[in-house]
Amino acid sequence: MFAVTAARIDANDPLAGMELGERPDPVAPDGWVTVTVKAAALNHHDVWTLRGVGISADRLPIVLGCDAAGLDPDRNEVIIHAVIGDPDAGGGDETLDPRRSLLSERHDGTFAEKVAVPRRNLVPKPAALSFEEAACLPTAYLTAYRMLFEKSGVQPGATILVQGAGGGVATALIVLGRAAGYRIWATSRGEAKRERAVKLGADQAFPAGARLPERVDVVMESVGQATWAHSVRSLKPGGRIVICGATSGDAPPAELTRIFFTQLSVIGSTMGTRDQLGRLARFCEQTGARPVIDWALPLENARDGFAAMIAGDLFGKVVFAC
Ligand SMILES: NC(=O)c1ccc[n+]([C@@H]2O[C@H](COP(=O)([O-])OP(=O)(O)OC[C@H]3O[C@@H](n4cnc5c(N)ncnc54)[C@H](OP(=O)(O)O)[C@@H]3O)[C@@H](O)[C@H]2O)c1
Repeated sequence: MFAVTAARIDANDPLAGMELGERPDPVAPDGWVTVTVKAAALNHHDVWTLRGVGISADRLPIVLGCDAAGLDPDRNEVIIHAVIGDPDAGGGDETLDPRRSLLSERHDGTFAEKVAVPRRNLVPKPAALSFEEAACLPTAYLTAYRMLFEKSGVQPGATILVQGAGGGVATALIVLGRAAGYRIWATSRGEAKRERAVKLGADQAFPAGARLPERVDVVMESVGQATWAHSVRSLKPGGRIVICGATSGDAPPAELTRIFFTQLSVIGSTMGTRDQLGRLARFCEQTGARPVIDWALPLENARDGFAAMIAGDLFGKVVFAC
């Protein structure tokens, strides 16, 4: 089968270690099934893998890709949950299983014509979503869903600031947050991206680091070092930062004094459960919310999609059709 593989790690030139070509078909062990991939979505995680973040060289070569939608062996339309873990080992939440991994970390991922996954990781794809839209849900949209509805601690009507509006997680936060009735403010480095954020449903969009008209209830962080101080300064006393990523680096000034003095909370968030992925799919079906796809292209052209993500040129998701 055709697949996109991480063959070598290169921290400075991630595309140098990526190979496109034939790989053996997957073999599904007991309890696993092989899914025929119809569409797969790119995440920053795939770039981190090529840079050697979160994976060691002894795991290579490995097929890249966390996210996909496709057909199970009975030709049912399915979405693949990317977290390979045991809910019982995590107190009912597979993301808390100490041995959990994401597809493409320990097992071959989704940037291929076929992928083997545990049967429990299949979630029905609503007919209302295209394969391309459904492929966006398992990582960026599930992460946004958990950040908003499990971790934020605020109810619809509250004001939520989303840092780095153009990213996959950030656009997901705008789309899902708007559909649920939050007032969403966003920041972005680019004016065109700020305009698109407002078109997408953000109430207002600001240049990165700008002073806001008033302080917010919650900040959603995936940018890290470049926006951290602004996130801390933008919160009301008692407010909350929910953080899922640190694309720009993870050594910002900690802002400890402001955090204790204004009694802020910093809450980490990673992915979500299989059951939350099922509810997210239903949320999209019921509200009409749909993933924002910047660019859909054939898997054979994956290199171009990776290059656009590395350059930070995107607004929303890159999806590969198989
Ligand atoms: N914990 C989890 O489960 C989880 C799940 C998904 C993603 N993540 C992490 O969350 C982060 C975002 O993921 P993603 O897939 O949404 O990535 P992405 O699509 O590449 O988005 C990155 C965004 O960061 C923003 N940004 C602002 N300042 C930046 C700077 N100085 N340098 C680089 N980027 C800057 C950009 O927004 P503007 O151009 O609009 O400013 C850019 O669109 C990644 O680090 C990823 O690993 C974690």
